[in-house]
Amino acid sequence: GAGGGVAPERPTFDQPLVVPPTRRGAEIRLVMRRALVRTLPDGPRTSMWTYDGTYPGPTIRRRGGRGTRVTIVNRLPREAGSMSTHLHGDHHASQHDGQPTTYLIRPGASRTYDYPLTVDGRAEPGSFFWYHDHRMDRTARNNWRGLQGMFIVTDPPLSGVRLPTGDRDVPLMISERSFRADNQLTDPFADGPEMVGHHGQMAWVGPQAPPDDATVGDTVLVNGRYAPYLDVTATRHRLRLLNSSPFSSYNLTFSDGRPFLQVGTGSGLLPKAVVRTSVLLGPGQRADVVVDFGGATGQRVVLESVPAKPGTTGDDARETAVMEFRVGDRARDPSRLPSRLPSPALVSPVPSKVSKTWTFGLHDEEHHGSFWSINGKAFDPGRVDHRARLGTVERWRFRNTSDVTHYVHIHAEQWRTLLRDGQAPPPWERGLEDTWRLEPGEEVEVAARFTDYTGPFMIHCHMLDHEDHGMMARFDVVP
Ligand code: C2O
Ligand code: CU
Repeated sequence: GAGGGVAPERPTFDQPLVVPPTRRGAEIRLVMRRALVRTLPDGPRTSMWTYDGTYPGPTIRRRGGRGTRVTIVNRLPREAGSMSTHLHGDHHASQHDGQPTTYLIRPGASRTYDYPLTVDGRAEPGSFFWYHDHRMDRTARNNWRGLQGMFIVTDPPLSGVRLPTGDRDVPLMISERSFRADNQLTDPFADGPEMVGHHGQMAWVGPQAPPDDATVGDTVLVNGRYAPYLDVTATRHRLRLLNSSPFSSYNLTFSDGRPFLQVGTGSGLLPKAVVRTSVLLGPGQRADVVVDFGGATGQRVVLESVPAKPGTTGDDARETAVMEFRVGDRARDPSRLPSRLPSPALVSPVPSKVSKTWTFGLHDEEHHGSFWSINGKAFDPGRVDHRARLGTVERWRFRNTSDVTHYVHIHAEQWRTLLRDGQAPPPWERGLEDTWRLEPGEEVEVAARFTDYTGPFMIHCHMLDHEDHGMMARFDVVP
């Protein structure tokens, strides 16, 4: 259970939200080290593995097109091993991608990642990325211990649109952990499964092996703190929502039914703002929303996750309070939000033929355990599962033959969602995207142009136990 007598389902919102420190330079240095972090309101602080002493790590804010070099130094305890930092959502070279088995940051060493923040010679659009550890087989553990931070590519001047800025632009990393009575993180990975080879097939056996590997925390944290509150003026606020949990999804709603105006996906603005009463986010997914607290002076509005009706999308989301907004006085609000937004161009024309199908499944070995698979295989970093030619547009299809939902994430490019179960995608999936929900039996088709960089990149499930237990594949972009 949670430490310090905390009852996760009925919080009293005792601590203020903390917004991580911001970094804006062209050269950024982050030291991975163990640090004591305030997570729960009472009792001892929690020892975590951090980027630069905070959880989440510092939020990097850089204008698209402004090259950024991030040096990560590994001063974690030796036994933590080598690390690899991936900037989720960004377009950059293969050797700067935070590969699972190569270009690692060994204990005591450092690595500089080069992020030009350009695509095909143009500035990346305003987006909400995040960086996190991506070490093969250890991603769930390393993220659980705290190696996560946010990266905002700030908008170029947008004509006709003024999104809320300054302290009305709030990045919110929602994640969950479990704590022991002394406020220290539990270690669900201590007796983790072992990979065994058998007749050329690999499987994970032991505790938390597939299909039971679901790292769920009993305590939901926002920017690293349990059940925080934020004082806001009775104006519009931009919330950049990120689910960095290892496994759970959240179906976010406001306690008073207040709507979200979704303006972006995390990968750029949507062509049209969408009014939603709930926003479902699985692991690795983001949403860029504007919330209007106008008229709510004196009220306390709770952001919570409420599962959708049984049998509908989002019925697997967890039920929990997330954080509280304490609405103060009215204030001047210069924000302006037309319904049509200057969203980034989508790839066009799109090929009519699917060039690659990725099937997400559970490979069951009756006598030798099982593993999560893509196209029937467990991840092998030395095997190239697909080749995509630089400069071409590819159309890919995802299928889910297992009986659980997966969240498919693709590195290297931003994608256009073409079809979800043969239909046009919902309005909030009509922008650029890099992480999709894929329910059992579902099919999703996406398209992107491969630009700038050749070499290996990954496609995987962003439920971190699934990723660690086989559900990842490698594609190479070739000249
Ligand atoms: Cu957010 Cu391949 O990861
Ligand atoms: Cu999965």
